[in-house]
Parts: sequence; C-alpha cells; structure tokens
Amino acid sequence: MKKPYKIIKIGGNELSSPEFIRGLSSAIKEEQKKYACILVHGGGRAIDQLMEKLQIEPHYRDGQRITDKATLEIAEMVLSGKINKELVFELTVIGVEAIGLSGVDRKLLQVEPWGQEMHLVGRIVKVREDLLAEYCAQGVIPVISPISIGPAGKYNVNADHAAGMIAGALKAEEVVFITDVPGVLVDDNVIVQLFDIEVQALIQKSTIQGGMIPKVNAALDALNYGAKSAKITNLAGFKKQSGTTIIRKGKIMAQKNNTQEIIKKEKEYVLSTYPRLPFVLTRGKGSFLFDSEGNQYLDFGAGIAVNALGHCDEEVVNAIQQQAQTLSHVSNLYYTAPHVELAEKLCQLSFADKVFFSNSGTEAIEASLKFARKYGRAKFGEGKTKLVAFSNGFHGRTFGALSITAREKYQAPFKPLVPDVEIVPFNDIAAAQQAIDDSTCAVIVEVVQGEGGVNLAAQEFLQALRTLCTQHAALLIVDEIQTGFGRTGKLWAHQHFDIQPDMMTLAKALGGGLPVGATLMTNDVAEPIVAGDHGSTFGGGPVAASAALVILQRTQDPDMLAHVQKISAYLCSELNALNLPQVVGIRSLGLMVGIELNVDAKPFYEKAHEYGILLLTAGSNVLRLLPPLTITKAEVDQFTLAFKKLLMEKTI
Ligand SMILES: Cc1ncc(COP(=O)(O)O)c(C=O)c1O
Repeated sequence: MKKPYKIIKIGGNELSSPEFIRGLSSAIKEEQKKYACILVHGGGRAIDQLMEKLQIEPHYRDGQRITDKATLEIAEMVLSGKINKELVFELTVIGVEAIGLSGVDRKLLQVEPWGQEMHLVGRIVKVREDLLAEYCAQGVIPVISPISIGPAGKYNVNADHAAGMIAGALKAEEVVFITDVPGVLVDDNVIVQLFDIEVQALIQKSTIQGGMIPKVNAALDALNYGAKSAKITNLAGFKKQSGTTIIRKGKIMAQKNNTQEIIKKEKEYVLSTYPRLPFVLTRGKGSFLFDSEGNQYLDFGAGIAVNALGHCDEEVVNAIQQQAQTLSHVSNLYYTAPHVELAEKLCQLSFADKVFFSNSGTEAIEASLKFARKYGRAKFGEGKTKLVAFSNGFHGRTFGALSITAREKYQAPFKPLVPDVEIVPFNDIAAAQQAIDDSTCAVIVEVVQGEGGVNLAAQEFLQALRTLCTQHAALLIVDEIQTGFGRTGKLWAHQHFDIQPDMMTLAKALGGGLPVGATLMTNDVAEPIVAGDHGSTFGGGPVAASAALVILQRTQDPDMLAHVQKISAYLCSELNALNLPQVVGIRSLGLMVGIELNVDAKPFYEKAHEYGILLLTAGSNVLRLLPPLTITKAEVDQFTLAFKKLLMEKTI
C-alpha cells in the first residue's frame, strides 16, 4: 500500500551539529516505516558563516534572505554542495536510501521572482510532484536543497516555503518544521494550537517574528494547498518527547476577523442576561487567554474560579478526550465507573460519607436544601424546615439558591421565593443565636464570601454556628463552590477554621471546565434520602467525572497547596507595595484576593483587558482576583505591573 507523505523541513542553524544530523537521521529512519518521507533543508548559519568569511553582509526581510548574485552562489555552494551531501551521506550510512536533489534538477521546483526588493528570491509556482512520487514509490528519500529554477535562471528559495509548497502539492499527511525551539512561543509557553486567523495578528504584534514568520506562513501554504496537518517543533518534539505547535485550518479560518460579527449575532440571538466584555476569546493555555484578534490576556479570573489548573491543562484535556471517545453519557439509570471513583476520592479527602452529583453550583445548593428539609422532616417531624443563611452571601440563581441569596436586586423580580428562610448578618454571632432554633433544619454559609466581596468568616463565628447547629439538631452546610479545591491554600476552605460541616457543596473548579456539581454529606444526613428523592440526567456523567478526578488529584497535592499559600503571600505583598491611592485594603485567603477600593470597581474591571489582564469584581467596590492555582511568580509580576498601570489610568 502507498505510504502517506511526510515532509520534514530542517533549518540551517540546527545542521551545524553532527550529533543533531545523526539524531535526525535515525528519527527519519523510524518515520520511514510509516511514511514516505521527503527531507527539505535550509542552510542559514553555514551560509552566514561563509558570507562573513567573504566579507559580504547578509540582509533579511521577514525572515527571508535577500539574495543577490554573489549571495546566490554562496547559498548554492552551501546548500547543494555541502549540507545536502552530508544529509544524504548520514542517511545512507544508517541504511536509508536517499537521493540528493536541488530544485533545479529536472525542474523539480519552479519559481517566479518573490519581488524586486528580494532580488533572486523565488516563490514556488510549480512542484514536480510526479518526480517525488517516483522516488518515494521506490522507497528512496528525496533530500532537497531549495535552490530552484525560474525566469532569470537560478533562485534562492526559503526552505520553509519550499517544504510547505511540496507538502501542499503532494497533499501530504503532515509537514513538520524542525527548528531549535519547541514550537511557536508566547512568553516561553508553546502555543499548542494555532489557527490561521490568529497568525497574521500575532505577526503584526511581533509575537511571531524573524525566522518563525516563514515557518507559520509555509505551514498555512501547505494546509491551503491540501496538506492535512502542519507542525512546528524541535528534534525532541519530532521524536514526540516534547511540545509542538500544530497549525490548523478550521472553521474559524473561513470566518476571517469576525469579532464584530460574533458580538452582533450574540446580541441578536442570545438572551441578554450577561454584560460581556467586547472581545471574542478563541483559545487558552495555562494562565493566558487569546482573542480572535490575537490579543493575549493574563487571566486572573480563571473562569470565575473554575480553571484551577489554568487553561487546557494537558492532563485534563487527555482525560476528557479519552473518556469522550470511550463513553460520554448514559444517564443515571446505569452504573459507570468514573463517578464512583470520584465519589470515593471526595469522601476519602473530606468529612463526607456520600456524594450526590449534579451539573452546577446552584444545583449542588438545591440538592443540599432538599436533603436538609427531608432530613429535618424524617428525623424530627413536620415543622423543622427553616433555612438560615447570611447577608452578602451568594449561592446561585435557581429558586432555592436564590431564596437564600439575600440580594434584593437578584430576588425582587422573581418573588415569591421559597418560604421559611431567615437571613442573618454575616459574622454576627448574637443574631445567629437568635435565628437558629429547633425549627431550623439547616444553616448555610460560605467560609469566604466570594461574590459578596471576599469577606472572611471569623473563626469564632463559624465555631458558634457549629455549636448552635449541634444544639438545635440543624445541619451545617458549607458552600465551597468557589473556595473548594485548593483555592484558599487548603483543599477545603473550612479546614482553615477547624470546623466539621454536615454537608458541603462543590462545583466550579471540580470539572476542570466541564459543568459538574457535587453535594457531600455524612451518613447521618444521607440516611433518610431514598431512590427517587432527587436526580439529574447528566449529574456526574463519565466525561465530567474523569476530568474531576484529575482536578482532585492535582489540587489535593501538598506541593500544590503549598504553592498556593506561597504565591498568595507574594501576590499580596506585591499588591500592597504598589501603594495605590484607591486601595483601602486587601483581603485574602490563598488565591482568593479582594482589593477594596474607595471608588467604584466596575470601570477597572471593564478596562483591565486593555492592559492585557482579566480580573473580577465582588460587590460594588472590590476587585477580586482568582488566578489559576498554577500561576507563576513571573506571571504575578506581569500582572502587578499591568494592574498598577490600570489603576493609574487617568480616564477612570
Ligand atoms: C459560593 C457560590 N455558591 C454558588 C454559586 C453558584 O454556582 P453556579 O453559577 O455554578 O450555579 C456560586 C457562583 O458564583 C458561588 O460562588
């Protein structure tokens, strides 16, 4: 059977090391088992060295060598006369059949002039793919020096361009650009996936520059002319041991710069319950998000405390991919393994004995309220139905959760709400004593109020609630939807306060970006709950549960929790050191940070993206930071610098 084509482009800088050439040759020998390989090489460094000896100064434009007659002669000598021969020799020595060719041989690569200012640089207009196919059919690897033929004789052709065009002409399975970096880098991070729409913007912003420009453009040429995939990587990546940038042609490509169109359509078709910021996010990696115009944002909101491990964490993505292609959904009528394992681990790592799975924070709350009412009724009879919650709390938007979220703005349009709810001032022990009585079935509290302003509960307050609940046989529910999974530097925030709840609600970070919620409880609470009392079609589905297993494993890691505590201290000290006039105080527990201002917080939230950062508000005068737990010191430095500029903005 005919093997698919793989075009391998190797740059000039790498070729100066004999070990590299040997490593490359043996990697190609491996590839040749599955693919019909074609090797295209450059010769950059060797050409420069020879030019230097001959005292000719090299000139470049957009990563391409401007080539006059003398430069062309040198390039041909180095490319066709030296490097090509060495590569063929190394392959031959290890038993691979290879033939050295230049683009001139049998008019393999035919060009037109690239443009006057580039002199004798050619743009390929035709590739003799029939010749290449012939060699490949015989099991011979063509090794191609990109000196080509055109209207004025010989031309110098950028080797990336040649590889891209050859890959396109042969409709290659893959073209790989091997270079000395592991892919396209943004702040030392490899961009794992790049769409063409992003490429031009990244070039304009100089994020992609120099020799990387012809590579990404050549990758796009290859895809446009019919190659199936394009990669930029180093030798280790080629041997599949490290990062790689895959360049894709996707739906997004056809839409071109469609930011305004998407925003317009959103307003037309999506119910407007969210005031969104004016850009369209297309990609995320680690602590960074990227929009459709190639802008980059340091994400200190983490999807409102969801992306604990940053964006597109490899382990999370793998877990999702694996499970999605094995079994994605069956409903809760049947047994599946992932949610069972997840429940077991959640119980092992908390006070709880049983778990109920749902799909969001508000659903985790609904479940907790229903279970509390059933518990009260079953164990103590009718009348034990009162729910106690606190001022400035936030528990969600569905009716039960909304009823215990004491914000007039959220509640007023939807009244009447769930009855028998009493709201008590947060951190007010005397008021709690008044409210909690024998008719109370549950008290629900956030140990750090997130939406309400990053308000920390006092240790005495939480301990008083525990005592009052025990005295009155009421359940203590901690809402750890925002604070859970290491956010505060302990796996569960209530562990800072030395209290034992009866129930705990979780969501947000749990699913690694997939929607999943969980309500954890003791056996005592679970006892009266029977089949049919509550349910959810999707709750704890295999894909979300598989992602959650990774999240739990990584966030319970003592090293991760220690990192959160350390980096939180650093972040807060750096923020304090800014001495900004609008900042009244900074409250924090781990990577839940509230910056209280003496002015309205919203304008800063709305402008932050112009400074390359994303953050959140909490209440009217608090800016809230919830970066990924994996945030680095360098990223904190980058953030504080931009944050300072944002707060010094004159127009706010
Ligand atoms: C403490 C707390 N509880 C509940 C919720 C509601 O979660 P969801 O938006 O997933 O319904 C939130 C959301 O911000 C929250 O912070």
